[in-house]
Amino acid sequence: MLVTHISASLFLISSALTVQARYVGYNAASTELYRRGESECRNMDTDFAKTTEGWVLQRGSTTETYDITDEGLTMKILKPTEYEEHYEPLVDNKVPGKLKYNEYEGKGFTFNATTLMHYGKFSATLKSAKVPGAVTAVILIADNGDEIDFEFLAGPKKQITSNYFYGPRIVYGENGKVIDAPKGNAYDQFYTYSIEWSPEKVVWKIDNNVIRTLTRDETDPKNGTEPAYPTHAARVQIGLWDGSGVSGTAQWARGPINWGEQDGPIEAYIKNVKIECDPKYN
Ligand SMILES: *[C@@H]1O[C@H](CO)[C@@H](O)[C@H](O)[C@H]1NC(C)=O
Ligand SMILES: *[C@@H]1O[C@H](CO)[C@@H](O)[C@H](O)[C@H]1NC(C)=O
Repeated sequence: MLVTHISASLFLISSALTVQARYVGYNAASTELYRRGESECRNMDTDFAKTTEGWVLQRGSTTETYDITDEGLTMKILKPTEYEEHYEPLVDNKVPGKLKYNEYEGKGFTFNATTLMHYGKFSATLKSAKVPGAVTAVILIADNGDEIDFEFLAGPKKQITSNYFYGPRIVYGENGKVIDAPKGNAYDQFYTYSIEWSPEKVVWKIDNNVIRTLTRDETDPKNGTEPAYPTHAARVQIGLWDGSGVSGTAQWARGPINWGEQDGPIEAYIKNVKIECDPKYN
């Protein structure tokens, strides 16, 4: 029952960064930047210990939400200064108790790659955040809503979600697959997460081992309707965000974040991101 309720709430929200992206909108300067880069995919191999060139902060993120260190990029959720915890009554009378959420969200971090990729591969070497309620994500997101994701939750098990969305007909809770980290967890050690995307299939890998394959064919309803498969040029987004602001999301994210136990910002770490455009389509 509880699970049913949680899932129902979750279906109302989109995946992590989509929600954030829709909240914050975008500014004219960066839109212009994309327009310039839109026609071609640029291979990128960013070592964040050395540079952030080729990346732009999503509006709403500020320079305080990240640091560059010898290890790479430290992404942060800043502790909200006006933190209070609130409880939201449930609509579903069959569920006892109340789901928690935080009134104030910590300010998170999102970087957009300044190139669009239309098929190809990207890899990110990262350590996710270990605080429940914080969501680490590396995703491909297209303007039409197509999306291919890796998302990371805190907690001992099932931390890693591979997911995708077909922009014209978004369904929640159906396309995600949840797994454990290969050894231990996703927040104590670096793994390299990759997504290989072609017109025929999407392959999710961890340290070069395939963890999931989705074929275009299996998304084809074979009734004359287009396959529910991501086909639009997309940009890589990396980020760390606070999932505590809506009770259903907070529940999904294993939060809300308990800022009372949290002295400073919450952190996740990315060493590098590599984007390899498929020359046939870019
Ligand atoms: C970042 O990407 C999102 C999702 O595609 C887009 O909506 C947004 O405008 C971009 N933000 C910036 C600052 O470029
Ligand atoms: C085909 O199947 C899809 C997915 O089940 C459905 O959304 C769509 O409405 C169907 N289209 C037709 C023409 O029956």
